[in-house]
Amino acid sequence: MMTGETADGLISPGDGQPAMDQDCYQTTSRWLARSGPSPREARLAMALDAALRRPARVLELGAGFGGFAVAAAQLGHSVVAVERSPARADFAKGQAGGAHGFGSGSIVVRQASFFDVDLDGTFDAVVCWNSFGCWPAAFDVPLLRRIRHWLGAGGFGLIDVFDPDWWSGMDRWKTTRDGMREHIRWRSGPDRIEIAYEFPGPAGQGAAEVVRCVSRNDARRLADSADLVCRSGPTDRRRGTYLLTVAPAR
Ligand SMILES: C[S@@+](CC[C@H](N)C(=O)[O-])C[C@H]1O[C@@H](n2cnc3c(N)ncnc32)[C@H](O)[C@@H]1O
Repeated sequence: MMTGETADGLISPGDGQPAMDQDCYQTTSRWLARSGPSPREARLAMALDAALRRPARVLELGAGFGGFAVAAAQLGHSVVAVERSPARADFAKGQAGGAHGFGSGSIVVRQASFFDVDLDGTFDAVVCWNSFGCWPAAFDVPLLRRIRHWLGAGGFGLIDVFDPDWWSGMDRWKTTRDGMREHIRWRSGPDRIEIAYEFPGPAGQGAAEVVRCVSRNDARRLADSADLVCRSGPTDRRRGTYLLTVAPAR
């Protein structure tokens, strides 16, 4: 794993994310891209809006197609959305400049890795939905330190974390989503979900990704190492994630 220091003086773990996962985010774009916020993204934006209570600067890590960013901007927030996959970032840029009305809100999309992107200023909230664990475990603390660095006074981070207790019961689960077949395999030690996608069309076309699960105790240890305090919410019974709220320890 290559390491280095970015202009903001933070350690970057380098470009060591598995190529398989990166390819997967590119290739699944064709099936998953959708304009505007999903009901879940709209709910997340409303919950964040209630916690912020005023128009704020929001940083979204792993923004995907930009649906959450659209929902948050429509509520008046200024969103910086960082997304590594060029296909997803391009789609999100289209949404940022397109037909959605934002009023006083705004979206800036950065096609970059959140492990080495340089960003100006600080944020009132940093959010990372449905992504924590899409990288090797050694990257967790460097990312949490970055989140700490990006938070302004009184700021907080909201992170979806995959709960190993929930996902361990999902081995061999199959489902179909937007025309793609998904097949889940559970592996323990380190706890992770392997997701194989099969695309419509000729048999054998597909992609795969691996997502790590993190227990509440491990999440607390990781937050401690990054000088963050944290609290975790209940596990969402349909998605198998719990919300980790983090804030600078001092
Ligand atoms: C599982 S998807 C979640 C997308 C979106 N947040 C959602 O909730 O639907 C993970 C996203 O994180 C992006 N991602 C993964 N590693 C990244 C990195 N190092 N920097 C920026 N984006 C990254 C992927 O390209 C992908 O769009």
